[in-house]
Amino acid sequence: MSHKVVLITGGQGYLGLSIAKRIIDDTPKETRLTIIITSRTFPNIKNAIKELKAYVLKNHLDRPALVEFDYVTVDLADMVSVCAALRELELRYAHIDTVVFNACLALYDGIDWVQSCVQTLQNPVEAFTYARYKIQRPVKPTRDGMGSVFQANVFAPWFILRRLTGPRQVSKDKLEVEKMETPVLGSGSKVFWISSLTADTMAKSPSEGGLDLDDIDLFNTPESYEASKREIDLLHHATAQLLKDRYGVTSLLVQPGIFKSTSFVPTLNVFAYVGMLLAFYLCRWLGSPYHNIDPWKAANAVATLDATPNDQINLFTKYGSATDRRGREYVMKQVVPGLEQGFDEEEAQNSSAETGTGAGAGAGRRSAGEAYKLYLYVEALYKVWEERLAKQVVERYLF
Ligand SMILES: NC(=O)c1ccc[n+]([C@@H]2O[C@H](COP(=O)([O-])OP(=O)(O)OC[C@H]3O[C@@H](n4cnc5c(N)ncnc54)[C@H](OP(=O)(O)O)[C@@H]3O)[C@@H](O)[C@H]2O)c1
Repeated sequence: MSHKVVLITGGQGYLGLSIAKRIIDDTPKETRLTIIITSRTFPNIKNAIKELKAYVLKNHLDRPALVEFDYVTVDLADMVSVCAALRELELRYAHIDTVVFNACLALYDGIDWVQSCVQTLQNPVEAFTYARYKIQRPVKPTRDGMGSVFQANVFAPWFILRRLTGPRQVSKDKLEVEKMETPVLGSGSKVFWISSLTADTMAKSPSEGGLDLDDIDLFNTPESYEASKREIDLLHHATAQLLKDRYGVTSLLVQPGIFKSTSFVPTLNVFAYVGMLLAFYLCRWLGSPYHNIDPWKAANAVATLDATPNDQINLFTKYGSATDRRGREYVMKQVVPGLEQGFDEEEAQNSSAETGTGAGAGAGRRSAGEAYKLYLYVEALYKVWEERLAKQVVERYLF
């Protein structure tokens, strides 16, 4: 019997749960399915698994093969916690088929109501698609010294991806697989980066308010969430071909559109929340394909692409969950601004060296140079942390 293993970070959020349920629906009934959920807290994990179990009992009672759930608690803004989670995954799983980097840290702190009225009056659909009125707290350094949003949204996922494509770093006698060299992620595995539409707002040059790669940790940007999503777009482009060629892993870039979720509830009162939902429906009715509203529809792109053969996936497409005016879902194909032609490492090296990543460079060359610079940065940081955490594992084993 075949066995499919799926890891969803932040799997207890609205999108995470919908992705899990849709993958359960789409996996052949004869395939044993294991879904691993991550959260920072055990109660969130417990609630998520309870909901998923109820979903299976209600909809898949006649399934001949098992659907089972597992979890790891992890704080992506804490490298020791990431290291502990990785060790668990290396110990427990011979192979993971799908990873969805869905968790995200956003420092939203409320709404600038004046700015929201101004933007809504200027262009209502744009105001509820690329909101520029959400207030975000400044990024602070984590215990590890990195910017919290960069670490949780960009670096920790990259670290997990890199570690799981390499040899295992756990004691050999405890392993489920025969060889330490057998990676958890390998030939046939899919890795989904969950980006956002709003990443595009950071594609401008730094002088125009776009992502500034002199501040990769995002300490100085007021829009750290959007900037971290642009970093995801860049990093995916710089590494997708490499991951495919070197490890056989298919990296996919997905934006889920706009949907109701736990992340913005805390910043809104009940009237604002209802008003926002009404505005979302109005945007959809006016023709916006991005207002999925329902997390189930927002999960469409990941679910559809997870069931798509790897050779039919374009590494340089940004796939999006979309709906038409009547709420019928479909997967849309987009490109990342400045990287419309994909990513060529040699060209990017030259762009980076010749023109730099400043405002003087054309958008395409600048973006390719930025993607390459970001890749070099996270890769160097990966090596630093791999070494530091290797010592951490030894210490833990001694106890
Ligand atoms: N909502 C939208 O309209 C929208 C639009 C575009 C893109 N997205 C993207 O879609 C994904 C899901 O979004 P969502 O709105 O469903 O968010 P959500 O419900 O808030 O779920 C995200 C989860 O990430 C986890 N998380 C936060 N910080 C973490 C950390 N430091 N370490 C580990 N986990 C952490 C949290 O889980 P715990 O608290 O349990 O740890 C949180 O529940 C995100 O990547 C988001 O950027 C959302």
